[in-house]
Amino acid sequence: MDTRLLELRDVTKIWSIGRTGEQVPALSSIDLDVARGEFLILLGPSGCGKSTLLQIIAGLEAPSGGRLRFLRGDGGRKLTSMVFQEYALFPWRTVLENVVFGPEVRKVPRATRDVEAQRLVELVKLRGFEHRYPHELSGGMRQRVALARALANDPEILLFDEPLAALDAQTRRVLQDELARIWAETGKTFIYVTHSLQEAVLLGGRIVVMTARPGRVKEIIDVRLPRPRSLTGRQEAEILERLDELLRDEVKRTMESER
Ligand SMILES: Nc1ncnc2c1ncn2[C@@H]1O[C@H](COP(=O)(O)OP(=O)(O)O)[C@@H](O)[C@H]1O
Ligand SMILES: [Mg+2]
Repeated sequence: MDTRLLELRDVTKIWSIGRTGEQVPALSSIDLDVARGEFLILLGPSGCGKSTLLQIIAGLEAPSGGRLRFLRGDGGRKLTSMVFQEYALFPWRTVLENVVFGPEVRKVPRATRDVEAQRLVELVKLRGFEHRYPHELSGGMRQRVALARALANDPEILLFDEPLAALDAQTRRVLQDELARIWAETGKTFIYVTHSLQEAVLLGGRIVVMTARPGRVKEIIDVRLPRPRSLTGRQEAEILERLDELLRDEVKRTMESER
């Protein structure tokens, strides 16, 4: 795989909690290669360390062991940008002002960043809403803004931490197709955390199934189906079933360890 962009080797994470210093192993010996331009899903039961792994890739947390290596061609570019579940938008900034935030910080000239922001507003289909404030938007529209804002940083990799989990089912379904479209149009590398089997099947190029905590890579499933996908498709259903089987054991283990 010579289009490799990121390599994780034997990455572990042990959190130590508060004053007691209790040691919580969150990730154990993660080996993973991420290819440039792929849509990689991290799927696993709640508490298995998905967010922890994303924070390590984002450079927000250091691993307790192992190593992480970016193999990039263009040295100047920001490595990662994150889209969270809750809308981490600036409430006092309009849509357009939110989108230009990163370029503003990087001192991109105004004319350049405004043109780019307009293009991104178009890409996420928010034309006409540029001057609205976040509280004047629906949840789905706010996540479109969050995505445009992350893209405005032009990072090598976009990281998503369950970005659609707080939305209603219909909106979520629409945005799933939108994410697939935007991934294809931008050619960016997406690393996308979810606990939803359906979402994994609808979006993933590869699906990394994680074990219960401490999270390890249990299996990686290649999904070679065209997008947009449908949950009622026969091949999709087969993958869903396989994922369900893999995850059921892990969820059981999580429940047992919580007893
Ligand atoms: N900042 C932190 N400090 C201490 N423990 C944490 C922290 N973040 C997560 N954990 C613990 O690490 C484990 C994995 O959490 P997390 O990565 O959030 O899982 P997931 O995103 O898969 O639900 C959990 O037991 C959680 O309580
Ligand atoms: Mg999480």
